[in-house]
Amino acid sequence: MSARLTQAVIIAAGKGTRTGGSRAKVLLPVLGVPLLEHVLRALKSVAAEPTVVVVGHQAETVESAFAGRGLTFVLQEPQLGTGHAVQAARTILERQPERTALVVNGDQPLLREQTLARVLERHREAGTAATLLSAILPGNPAYGRVIRDGRGRVQRIVEARDASPQELKEAEVNAGVYAFEVAPLLDALSKLTANNAQREFYLTDVIGLLSSAGQPVEAVTAEDASEALGVNTLAEVADASRRLRERRLLELMAGGVLVEDPASTTVGLDVRVEAEATLRAFTFLEGRTVVQAGAVIGPFARLEDTEVGPGAQILDHCLLRKCVVEAGAMVGPFTHIRPESRIGAGAKVGNFVELKKTHLGDGSKAPHLSYLGDATIGPKVNIGAGTITCNYDGTAKHQTRIEAGAFVGSDATLVAPVTVGEGAYVAAGSVITEDVPAQALALGRARQVVKPGWNRKRRGAGEGR
Ligand code: UD1
Ligand code: MG
Repeated sequence: MSARLTQAVIIAAGKGTRTGGSRAKVLLPVLGVPLLEHVLRALKSVAAEPTVVVVGHQAETVESAFAGRGLTFVLQEPQLGTGHAVQAARTILERQPERTALVVNGDQPLLREQTLARVLERHREAGTAATLLSAILPGNPAYGRVIRDGRGRVQRIVEARDASPQELKEAEVNAGVYAFEVAPLLDALSKLTANNAQREFYLTDVIGLLSSAGQPVEAVTAEDASEALGVNTLAEVADASRRLRERRLLELMAGGVLVEDPASTTVGLDVRVEAEATLRAFTFLEGRTVVQAGAVIGPFARLEDTEVGPGAQILDHCLLRKCVVEAGAMVGPFTHIRPESRIGAGAKVGNFVELKKTHLGDGSKAPHLSYLGDATIGPKVNIGAGTITCNYDGTAKHQTRIEAGAFVGSDATLVAPVTVGEGAYVAAGSVITEDVPAQALALGRARQVVKPGWNRKRRGAGEGR
């Protein structure tokens, strides 16, 4: 069905009583992004812009979390049930009577675009007033049951709390996705009553009203029953995150990414990992991270909005945020790279090294125990163990420049602003407060004093041994 002819309505006004606290349920993070975001993504290309989102509980917080996304928000106040929520969008639907309304629960993060497309396709083919998505969920879930007549036609939906023991045995449940022709939908909505266990106006009753008025209703059964899962409790938030995580890792593995231990690995929805990359155990890739071919990440690494070039290695226990690691570089173990840093091709950053707003040039090394902040370091520079850039004077931050091929000895303290010129040497243990010219040696430390026989003399004086 042409997306142009479909008006999506997401109902997201509910209190989320079962998720506890005062947080809006649809903002709870599922695999790092709000619950509602998953539904919006599934709808992306199947419906016309703008999507209508019915908000109510914590409406302002939900609206501001999704401001600038081109959505039309409709307020449902008070929240008297899912049918009442769709009624809140009545004026918008009335303006577009030729469209099909695709109504989707806002709490179903596992829905896929192709499944919504299937529902719309079937709806168009069947030419019925309504088509719903169902799923086969055995056990005794708290979902509405799809009740069919003797000939298998959908008759109505009964909520679990209103169902008879016999009805509860039905394994076909309502998955919270419905395509409706606008006119019969609006007509049925106006006939809803709240004569049920929850004293609410149920959207699900529209199905019974339509079929008893002689309007056939179709049902499409989800191939993957987990798509029907609605998130009603915090345990279900965690369960949905786990399922989405597994789905994402299966996609990556199918695309040639070696995932050593899927049970301990998390890759966000907006992360890109190329074929032939390896993700070792306990790796977390978040935000807009990109990992290129042949790179190896982990174990125990967390990367946020970070780009890792081909063949680079991020070894054990590293935290990298908003930075770039170029081809063949090696980072870790135990490295912290903070935003706006860049590690050049083939460079090495090692144990207990922290970088902030620092560019380490190609082939340069900072292997041990350093803080490098607000620094521009050229290619083929050696940063000795314990080197510190003193970038902060208590008021402002200052820059350090270390030019190509320079050698900074261990335990150097570089007091910024300062420049170490090309090929210059800084002696170990120096405090450098003035620029060092190219090719020079700078010593900034007290000269060593040796007192021959000092201890023997002291012993002679009766002190110590
Ligand atoms: C609903 C269905 C149930 C289905 C299940 C699938 C009804 C009556 N029941 O049950 O048949 O099996 O989803 O997940 O529809 N909402 C509003 N305004 C309200 C109440 C709810 O906008 O007044 C929104 C909620 O924010 C939520 C969605 O509607 O996004 C579903 O509401 P929820 O309370 O989660 O319904 P379920 O009990 O899960
Ligand atoms: Mg629900």
